[in-house]
Amino acid sequence: MLGSLTRRFDRPLVLTVILLLSRCFRFFGSTMTDDERAISTRCVHGKDVRTAGPVATPIAQTSTFVFEDQQQIIDSVSGVSGRHLYTRWGNPTTHQVEQKISALEGTEESIVFASGMAAITSTILGLVKSGEMILSTDSIYGGSFNLFQKLSNEMRFGIDFVDCDDFVDRIKDSNGSYKLCYFESPTNPTLKVVDIKAVAEASRSTGTISVIDSTFGTPINQQPHRMGIDVVMHSATKYLGGHSDLIAGTISASSELIKSIRKSSKLFGGTPDPFAAFLLDRGIKTLAVRVERHNENAMFLASKLSTDKRVRQVHYPGLPNHPNHDIAKSQMSGFGGMLSIDLDCGREEAMTFVDSLNLFLNAVSLGGVESLVSIPTLTSHHDISQETLSEMGISESTIRLSVGIEDANDLYADIMQALEKIF
Ligand SMILES: Cc1ncc(COP(=O)(O)O)c(C=O)c1O
Repeated sequence: MLGSLTRRFDRPLVLTVILLLSRCFRFFGSTMTDDERAISTRCVHGKDVRTAGPVATPIAQTSTFVFEDQQQIIDSVSGVSGRHLYTRWGNPTTHQVEQKISALEGTEESIVFASGMAAITSTILGLVKSGEMILSTDSIYGGSFNLFQKLSNEMRFGIDFVDCDDFVDRIKDSNGSYKLCYFESPTNPTLKVVDIKAVAEASRSTGTISVIDSTFGTPINQQPHRMGIDVVMHSATKYLGGHSDLIAGTISASSELIKSIRKSSKLFGGTPDPFAAFLLDRGIKTLAVRVERHNENAMFLASKLSTDKRVRQVHYPGLPNHPNHDIAKSQMSGFGGMLSIDLDCGREEAMTFVDSLNLFLNAVSLGGVESLVSIPTLTSHHDISQETLSEMGISESTIRLSVGIEDANDLYADIMQALEKIF
């Protein structure tokens, strides 16, 4: 083909055109935007594919940074140079993982914190002033619920809790009286699903800042900012880290909102250690493949258990009879690795069941490669009143399973042998 082209046209001209075209293709290839690359690629490489230097993320295990003179310090403090000054304010390892998380969530910026709770606290205190109102769904992680109550009782924040099903209407009817609305989807531990686009639209139309705790969803199964939510939060201790070996939290949002949250984060000091940031970055590299397996395993167990008469109810948004299945299908690409079951028994039998499991480790937390089991009334929701628990739909025989990436048949066999101990 080259031969026939060079016979018909001037050879140097043809070669020059080919060279220019190939440069163009390389140029366009190398400037492929985040959104054009698949999420599994972004998990490995983040925003930009590295072209030089170490393949693994270097750990800047330092509390502080050296400058040549005072002018350089002034330029750093004022933000002119962008150079790191002190690790509570920012660190190269942490910054790298922050950029990767923004690439996953599709936001301008992200902040990594020392824990999920530090992320929530800095977000609320960075965006809401004492005396202003917050609306939250009542089905949320027990720690977040207790934090909101503390802010309301001791720091004059106004907090209203509503059922997930009433959340969107309450935002719409509020006439903008809420500064911020906060929700989880899917919720911990009852796996309710909130219509993310509807929350985003209602919030936009009333000037309310929307914040989602997307820990159960993961950036693989749902990307709420792309559906219009302002702030996306994760307990990165869970799926993002993925190996039960770190505690961290993340916030992703526009640069404008991040500016306010970062101010409070610097003051409250919930900064991650650089080594934890390194572990988080390493964990995220395999997030897409892990979540795929979590999704498959949980779906398998939920389907099997939903036909077992000893299990009163299975809470899993992937099941067609889940009350929010249609919403889940429209906004999630997978239904996640978390499921809860209500056994047809009392508290003592539920405890015996959990203690009889072998593969599901008896430990709080979730989202790691290993399967974990817990009873929410004894753990994540232990100091919440009986009345609130029943409003949340949590009973003493509600058991939360964090389904890991082991073989699904082995996990099912483990549940069967434990059920036989009590029925
Ligand atoms: C849904 C959810 N959000 C937030 C948190 C708090 O995160 P951390 O323990 O990392 O502070 C948890 C902890 O279990 C959680 O399950």
